[in-house]
Amino acid sequence: MKPFFMLVLLSAFSVASQAEEYVKKSINLSPDLKALLVEEMKEVKKGMESLVTSVATGDWRAIAETGQHIKHSYIIKKRLTSEQKQELKKTLPAGFKSLDRKFHYYAGMLSHVAKERDIELVHYYVSKMNEACTSCHAQFASDRFTGFSQKNRHEEHMH
Ligand code: HEC
Repeated sequence: MKPFFMLVLLSAFSVASQAEEYVKKSINLSPDLKALLVEEMKEVKKGMESLVTSVATGDWRAIAETGQHIKHSYIIKKRLTSEQKQELKKTLPAGFKSLDRKFHYYAGMLSHVAKERDIELVHYYVSKMNEACTSCHAQFASDRFTGFSQKNRHEEHMH
């Protein structure tokens, strides 16, 4: 096959797989649970922002604390009535729950590797956490974060 056609095929594949990856799935939480989720997100955002500085300055203690804090930031799990727990169980899609679990796992690992003073692994887990934010928002909050439904210009240039 001529290289040009290979390229076209390849990029068609990657567009298709990306579209698949970001299929829109909405989650419908009741207002009180939604408020708790937003509260958790604000905490997480603050933590991620503080990592820019603590990672850049090798502040191991601060990195470890932030990781630990985010790991336990399951507000969602903390102050819930049993009805709310049931609602979460029923409402949240499996994909959401597994991303959430991964995200908190990475935060725990970040804390661990910061205590070991391993900067490369610190970078690794910070980027895994960031990927989890993007991936969850692209799939489950794309009405709110509309950037993810816009086309990838980089791929457009390749056509
Ligand atoms: C497992 C899913 C998931 C993960 C992981 C996740 N988020 Fe979110 N996030 C959401 C959902 C759902 C919303 C709600 C969007 C809406 O308002 O409808 C949200 C909302 C937010 C908001 C808006 C809060 C507001 O003020 O309304 C911010 C900021 C945010 N996330 C930051 C982050 C950051 C930073 C990370 C990663 C470090 C992250 N999120 C990881 C699901 C996730």
